[in-house]
Amino acid sequence: MEKLVITGGTPLKGEVTINGAKNAAVAILPAALLINGITTIENLPNISDVKLLCEIIEELGAKITWVGKNTITIDARNITSTRAPLELTRKFRASYYLIGALLGRCGDVQVGMPGGCKLGARPIDQHIKGFEALGAHVEVGQGNITATCKELVGTNIYMDIVSVGATINVMLASVLAKGTTIIDNPAKEPHIVDVANFLNTMGADVRGAGTDVIKINGVEKLEGNITYSVVPDQIEAGTFMLAAVASRGDLVIKNCTTKHLECISAKLLEIGAHVEELDGDTIHVWCDKRPSKANIKTLPYPGFPTDLQPQMGVVLATAEGTSIINESIWESRFQYTDELNKMGAKITAQGKTAIFEGVDSLYGAPVCATDLRAGAALIIAGICAEGTTEVYNLEHIDRGYENIEEKFRSIGANIKRVKEEDPNKNLVEMSE
Ligand code: EPZ
Repeated sequence: MEKLVITGGTPLKGEVTINGAKNAAVAILPAALLINGITTIENLPNISDVKLLCEIIEELGAKITWVGKNTITIDARNITSTRAPLELTRKFRASYYLIGALLGRCGDVQVGMPGGCKLGARPIDQHIKGFEALGAHVEVGQGNITATCKELVGTNIYMDIVSVGATINVMLASVLAKGTTIIDNPAKEPHIVDVANFLNTMGADVRGAGTDVIKINGVEKLEGNITYSVVPDQIEAGTFMLAAVASRGDLVIKNCTTKHLECISAKLLEIGAHVEELDGDTIHVWCDKRPSKANIKTLPYPGFPTDLQPQMGVVLATAEGTSIINESIWESRFQYTDELNKMGAKITAQGKTAIFEGVDSLYGAPVCATDLRAGAALIIAGICAEGTTEVYNLEHIDRGYENIEEKFRSIGANIKRVKEEDPNKNLVEMSE
């Protein structure tokens, strides 16, 4: 088992470069299966969700070649199976994009139920509603989702709830459908726009991504031999912005899209930090005093992203005064506050609301990452705390951040990843 050992107290200073967006990449890879051809995808984050998805895609018959640390080619001319096994799909959330892509390409698919961060109930009723509206027959049972259709026909689909996954899955299923599909009340996150841009680069006709209505005119076929670069990761960039403020540091964050970070920048200015946008792809964040309190409500884009809520919680844990976070997207996204309280924070979480009484400082302790973004938050907390923190359950963090400890070390953090001897192994040795 591995853990991160962090000795805190050093403000983060320097430059950090952001990778491609996880939540765009894990949809673009399945989208590449829609094409009877070869695609090259650049600026792909080298994270475990991407590697796992590549493993599944190869088992379906596609050929993947890593032509660089962050670049692959996918040859999807020879799809030999449309069955993705539960033992792989249950390891992450985005496996469900294989349904939309394979339904659109082959008209028949069986995918094991998705897994992903434990944030409360994560239903897929809106995905199924979209597939059935397009004419598919969908069955859920024995741990699998099975969808079949003779022909997908475009139609109007109203999303009962704003859903990133359902919006993308309906887009994937409808680009080769007959006629036009209108998605009302879609999600508008940067990764939705990026997937639409990727599809259009392949010759699809997707309009309005990022707005309140997405219109997809079905096309006969998609063109291969294209190269596409994944959009910079809004959430990784926001993670480092919040780390700069929590550690009272000074960071220049490169290869980001400042437009996607407007909500975070606004909040940081509100609590007394400094934010400077240097042209469209670099942001400078620094904080030389204790931030003031804030009230946060997570909302779909362009509101405050739920995926930056735990990281913001670390900032508020040592801010001046009492702050409140209202988590409107997920039922259970405050598990990290129990871990922060082990480090001296004073947080009371009840349902979808948490109250943060700002303390002067945190102190190091052994803590466990409960999900991907909680893990990132605990790393930031360890960097800010006095003393030494050990962060366990790194598999959560490695799903969504490439080389996270190297990146933090390059901007001054005293952090290292160590293999922890298996305590049982030692016991066995001693008893022999
Ligand atoms: C995506 O999850 C992201 N994951 C999540 O990021 C992110 O928290 C979430 O969007 C919201 O931005 C990926 O993109 C792989 P949703 P997704 O469908 O698509 C309800 C991270 O840390 N809902 O937008 O699963 C749902 O319960 C991860 O990178 C339904 O009711 O989220 C939730 O309350 C964690 N029925 C809300 O909608 C459905 O059919 C938003 O969920 C689908 C969703």
